[in-house]
Amino acid sequence: MALSFRKLHRHFVAESSPIELRNVRDPETLTEIRRGMDEHAVLVFRAQPFTDAEQLAFAQRLDGRLHQSGGSRVIAKNRLGNEALSDISNLDQDGEIMQADDRRRQYGLGNRLWHTDASFRDPAGRYSMLHARVVPSVPADTEFADMRAAYDALPAETKTQLEGLRAHHSIAHSRQLLGFEFSQGEQDQLTGAIHPVVRTIPCSLRRSLYLASHQSRIVDWPLAEGRLLLRDLTEHATQREFVYRHAWRMGDLVIWDNRATMHRGRPFDDSKYRRELRRVTTLDIEQPAFVASGS
Ligand code: OGA
Ligand code: MN
Repeated sequence: MALSFRKLHRHFVAESSPIELRNVRDPETLTEIRRGMDEHAVLVFRAQPFTDAEQLAFAQRLDGRLHQSGGSRVIAKNRLGNEALSDISNLDQDGEIMQADDRRRQYGLGNRLWHTDASFRDPAGRYSMLHARVVPSVPADTEFADMRAAYDALPAETKTQLEGLRAHHSIAHSRQLLGFEFSQGEQDQLTGAIHPVVRTIPCSLRRSLYLASHQSRIVDWPLAEGRLLLRDLTEHATQREFVYRHAWRMGDLVIWDNRATMHRGRPFDDSKYRRELRRVTTLDIEQPAFVASGS
């Protein structure tokens, strides 16, 4: 099926022509979507009637193996009964809006910091696919920033300075920035991971900043200098010109490439309005795109 993509931002993000992804199985269409991801880094698909099982199955057809180990499994059992399906909602085990002091809510507030999914794991997350099931009547948006355009816009000296740098990412770090406390047992399960600060994305061969508020330090650098550099890079990369804001509609599926973007949730009154989304993230391992497209 021939798809077309309409750009929603000068640098990245496109909306697909109508298609029902739960029925997409043919290699040609899957290849078109992967090519769209390489070009636009974020794709918006409207009106997707996914069940949980269909969302999980589509994610595997598109991009292979699923991440089973987001950070939240360390603090609470998954409400949806499957660790590959992240519960991005403000609902408790009984389906009621969580109390303000609920530990899961406090932990989830970390999604309002700029981040990339599962960067504190190795392998990290590649594609995240977030499906809107219940959308509040007030704005409860998600922002995305283009880390390729942000890299391209850096001064040449900075690009040179960044060559070969690696950063440590830890979910404990980003949560502790917000005052969240982990037990020793929890911390022991959250050792983090080390990833390069600049990466080249296979296929498009574009260079990209790999940033996240999970970053605790630059390897082999003094702590303060590393943190200041990461803060400056994040400030640069999240300037308005690199940012797209997604206003959710019920049934939207947004797919983003965590190697090429950062994202954050925007605040809304989560004590009053239900918001329920479900996310599946693939492992950043060898890409079926290469196999399927023969490139
Ligand atoms: C996510 C995420 C932000 C939001 O699902 O990974 O960070 O707006 N979501 O819910
Ligand atoms: Mn996220």
